Amino acid sequence: MISKKTIDEIFLAAKIEEVVGDFVPLKKKGQNWVGICPFHDDKNPSMYVTPRLGIFKCFVCDTAGNAVHFLMEHEKISYPEALRYLAAKYNIPIEEDKTELSAEEIAANNERESLYVVNSFAEKYFIDQLFNTEEGQNIGLTYFKERGFNEAIIKKFKLGYCPAAWDSFTQEALKNGYKLDYLLQTGLTKKTENDKLFDFYRGRVIFPIHNTLGKTVGFGGRVLKKSDNIAKYFNSPESEIYHKSDILYGFYFAKKSIRAKDNVYLVEGYTDVLSMVEAGVENVVASSGTALTDGQIKLLAAQTPNITVLYDGDLAGIKASLRGINKLVEAGLNVKVILLPDGEDPDSFAKSHRDSELMDFLNNNATNFILFKAKILSQEAGDDPVKRSAMIKDILTTITDVRDDITRAFYIKECAKLFQLSEEMLNVELRKLVWKKMNKPATAAQQPTELPSPKLIQPIQQPANQLINNAELNLISLILQYGSFEITVARADLNDEISYEQIRVDQYIYNELHNEELHFQNPLYQTIYEEYAKVAAQAEIAEDIAAAFIRHEDKKIQDLAISILIDVDPEYSPQWKIKFDLETSSTKNSQDSLTKEVESVINYFKISILIAQENVLREELSHQHPPQIENQILARLMEICNRKKEIANLIKIVIPK
Ligand code: CTP
Ligand code: MN
Repeated sequence: MISKKTIDEIFLAAKIEEVVGDFVPLKKKGQNWVGICPFHDDKNPSMYVTPRLGIFKCFVCDTAGNAVHFLMEHEKISYPEALRYLAAKYNIPIEEDKTELSAEEIAANNERESLYVVNSFAEKYFIDQLFNTEEGQNIGLTYFKERGFNEAIIKKFKLGYCPAAWDSFTQEALKNGYKLDYLLQTGLTKKTENDKLFDFYRGRVIFPIHNTLGKTVGFGGRVLKKSDNIAKYFNSPESEIYHKSDILYGFYFAKKSIRAKDNVYLVEGYTDVLSMVEAGVENVVASSGTALTDGQIKLLAAQTPNITVLYDGDLAGIKASLRGINKLVEAGLNVKVILLPDGEDPDSFAKSHRDSELMDFLNNNATNFILFKAKILSQEAGDDPVKRSAMIKDILTTITDVRDDITRAFYIKECAKLFQLSEEMLNVELRKLVWKKMNKPATAAQQPTELPSPKLIQPIQQPANQLINNAELNLISLILQYGSFEITVARADLNDEISYEQIRVDQYIYNELHNEELHFQNPLYQTIYEEYAKVAAQAEIAEDIAAAFIRHEDKKIQDLAISILIDVDPEYSPQWKIKFDLETSSTKNSQDSLTKEVESVINYFKISILIAQENVLREELSHQHPPQIENQILARLMEICNRKKEIANLIKIVIPK
């Protein structure tokens, strides 16, 4: 287990904007950073990252948390995995706690961890076989070299070789203490019908598959000699750590370059990636021969909006791929396609040309996908009016996915030229399609996959009275945000002499609530209020108080604190927000306005309680009572109404009816 001291060091070192920024492009906005939220289908940047508090929050899907939460959610890893990732990122040595874990804890932690460890062992074993055994060198290394891969590329992608013998890897792994169960789960070892164990990849060259953090989650193994009755590639099965639909081959190595180039090349196979990288094109990933999944598209979209798809030459193949590419456009990406000469794939093309020729080819042949599709379909439809109208609908449907108006207008113009139709007519059709799409119920296929990931923030339990809840939330927000600040309040003594007093906001609120014996109805707020006293007794400054709540062990408290403490533009703020600028206004002014805010929040809180009491009394009045009781109720009602008016006058608010 990672020691408490190490965890503290990790939290201290981790910069939320750097951690999130590794996965999502962020733009500076005031004191925050904003980016497209990766946890739902985000169109505009709605994720806020606040360095001061070390937290992020999406204002659309409500996912929020600190750097560790982000990694857990985004990379689907466990708490210790996230900590270890951060420790590595910030060069923090990990000190292990010797405390014994319970059997269940060990099991839960170990399952995934063990699969990683087994894969890592296998990867090293295969590399060792490739470079350091006669068989590996003669067969595996020779194969790679004959295909033109240099040693740097082989090492970078950690390629390897699995000996042809029946079970040499499996035996070695068992001898080293790796459990058979994990060998089977990762698919490295298989069983015959007679329960005989054998190496799944025996006699194959190995392409390890890495996740976005660079951990080895699976393998592809290629046969050396082509044969019709056996699959060219064997691949790892899905497992606890390998979710094929979320992995793109080469992504881990390409990420940096994708960001830098603001473009990614999408190819089909392992070898295409290797050859392109070897030729100096590092922003390349492979879909590994299958249709792109939503998860893979999201992965790319988080890095760049620009995707260039490389296709092996023939038109039939391209047509079959149109649907798949459409999905990229639907995701709001700018898609370009490059058609390779007939019979070539990126691997063979890169190998048969100089690096500079490949570069020129890529630069000169990338065509806009929508126009490309329009041309293909137009050629195909010829003069047949039925086919032409279907084609126009098809293209326009794709254009409805384009987000930017100007770009959309550009496509309409180009298509009008190509189809020899008026722009106006195309625009009319386009509007019809947009309208139809907006009114279309979500298809079954879209629903489960498109839902945002589970939220870290639990919905706050709503008490019956929304007014009170809002007032209570305002008050709790005020305490958490400004509890340690000082305000100046006026006090009138018995002779109506006014004096001024400097007091901390938390102390002032405590006095006000205590004097009138007020408390919170929402139990979560009440708990936070009580916890606050403990925290504030130990922490002096606002940041420390905030930190204590943001890392509070009670998840509900933590979530609420995060949603309160993250600063955002008022337009995004779902709740009441203190509107004064501590940075820019003078101390006196900001103190004044904070004083006003504190008073108005407290008064609003009091009024909401009075209104609730008033409602109860009015409800009682609607029933039959003996006159004496009725008078009592009326008297109390009068008293409450007067008190309410008094307070309302103080803060000049219109009392909600
Ligand atoms: N693929 C697979 N299983 C197969 C064939 C292909 O998983 N039986 C996947 C692999 O990820 C492969 C990709 O589909 O990389 C593209 O297939 P293909 O173009 O046939 O393979 P290449 O990568 O070009 O491999 P090579 O150049 O070695 O033939
Ligand atoms: Mn190939």
